[in-house]
Amino acid sequence: MPTPIADNDPLVLAARAAADRAYARYSRFRVGAALSGPFGVICGCNVENASFGVTICAERTAIVSAIAAGHRRFDAIAIALPDSPPGSPPTAFMPCGACRQMMAEFVGPDFPVLIDGVGKFRFAELFPNPFVLPDQRA
Ligand code: THU
Repeated sequence: MPTPIADNDPLVLAARAAADRAYARYSRFRVGAALSGPFGVICGCNVENASFGVTICAERTAIVSAIAAGHRRFDAIAIALPDSPPGSPPTAFMPCGACRQMMAEFVGPDFPVLIDGVGKFRFAELFPNPFVLPDQRA
């Protein structure tokens, strides 16, 4: 079950600001993500493409930006989906499965995921059984 997030949570505010930078020309559905760590905050937004499958989500944009900048330790992520109308079911605000698998590469079960309009989850609540390669491969 999610726990409440303060109205003025700075990471959520950063995710909302990042959503304003979304390139959502096709879906008109903007998403923002803000990742915090010892480095500060790195944001991402969805970036769509005329070849729809090339589109990348906000959460993965934030993670790849952080990794490319040399950061691999993260404290929390906030996600904002301002184009889901208020009163939509929680499913309209949740990160997609691809983004959860991407997060699983870098975060542990207690990692806080702040979802604007829904609340704060532990990562394991959102993605309890990530795929992990076996250590020994033939
Ligand atoms: N989107 C995200 O950025 N993150 C998610 O977790 C779900 C979906 C984007 C992808 C696409 O640009 C738009 O939202 C509609 O699916």
